[in-house]
Amino acid sequence: MNNLANKRVLLGVSGSIAAYKSPDIVRRLQDLGAEVRVIITNGGREFVSELSLQTVSKNKVHDNLWDKDAELAMGHIELAKWADAVIIAPASANTIAKLCHGKADDLLSTVILATKAAVLIAPSMNQQMFASKAIKENLEILNNRGVVTIEPGFGEQACGDVGEGRLAEPIEIAKQVANIFSNNTLSGKKVLITIGGTIEAIDPVRYISNHSSGKMGMALAHACVQAGAETTLIVGSISVDVEKRANVTYITSANEMYDAVMKKIKSQDLFISCAAVADFRPTKISQNKIKKDSNLSSIELTRNKDILESVCKLKNKPICIGFAAETENFIANATAKLEIKKCDAIILNDISNTEIGLNSDENEVHFLSQEKTEKIDRSSKQIIAEKIIKKVTKYFF
Ligand code: C5P
Repeated sequence: MNNLANKRVLLGVSGSIAAYKSPDIVRRLQDLGAEVRVIITNGGREFVSELSLQTVSKNKVHDNLWDKDAELAMGHIELAKWADAVIIAPASANTIAKLCHGKADDLLSTVILATKAAVLIAPSMNQQMFASKAIKENLEILNNRGVVTIEPGFGEQACGDVGEGRLAEPIEIAKQVANIFSNNTLSGKKVLITIGGTIEAIDPVRYISNHSSGKMGMALAHACVQAGAETTLIVGSISVDVEKRANVTYITSANEMYDAVMKKIKSQDLFISCAAVADFRPTKISQNKIKKDSNLSSIELTRNKDILESVCKLKNKPICIGFAAETENFIANATAKLEIKKCDAIILNDISNTEIGLNSDENEVHFLSQEKTEKIDRSSKQIIAEKIIKKVTKYFF
């Protein structure tokens, strides 16, 4: 699947004659749906105009680490965080060597050090240079660090030589960038995910809710879409952007979430219950705002239905994954939940640690299935989500 829809791709253009092809690379990335920003090095600027790149990318070209105004508009760290993937095309011998040694003497090399995004390089240079031991060894070092090389082609070069070192075709570069996002492991599968907190009204103004941000659920949604699943989300109260490629139903209360899930559950292959559903709701919702002087001393609560448990009891239930947000007796509590709710796996997280779990950007979880318990080390919620989906695919599909 060659799909870069909703993907942010940062194109680094370094000093090689093939830089004249970089506006075409921007276009081919856009053809696959990507939003593209460009960083140009001093060497790159010798071979292609910034105006061309600005015009096709529809964004200002980033070129200077020390430009105060540019740093204010979108600084190098922000740019590094913005990107879902960075592709350096053409990647000159000098840029490759700088990446290899972790140098940070210009904007492109600094962004590469600062980004968590996938990095790809499309080398382009004279065939003799490309055949040199230094380049071969540098590429091997980068490969071992996870940098993907888009191999250059064989043919006539701008200098008149014939050999290996021609920049890969722009269309091929765009396809290989797209390839890193499409693993297709859930292709043809339907996934339903509950996300965020529920809001239980007390009166028209007040409510009971929780600190759920929806970050973990949305990261899972993203991972499912990436894996090719037809993804449906039942979304409560959240503070993150919604995955645009999923079907979304918005709800407020636990009862509404229950109804929305039951309406959609029939044809699903996988149900991920990530929402922080309120266990109780006020028994009566006051029609009018409760006044200070109303002598109210307590609010009577009624237990909400357990959505996950109800889905696990369905006759043709999908694979069901629950979450256990715990503050103590972690493994014991999560194991009990796995047994009581009869789900296929439980993702356990420690919410007493404020650096992970509720509302934070990182998490560290245990994946408990009926067979075994595995730790997924601390990482961004997106990486944790991808690892969870990989395990779910491996064990259940
Ligand atoms: O029992 P506890 O609320 O700790 O279990 C958490 C798991 O159960 C989560 O997966 C949560 O989404 C789900 N849950 C639910 N309906 C509820 C309460 C929790 O689906 N009413």
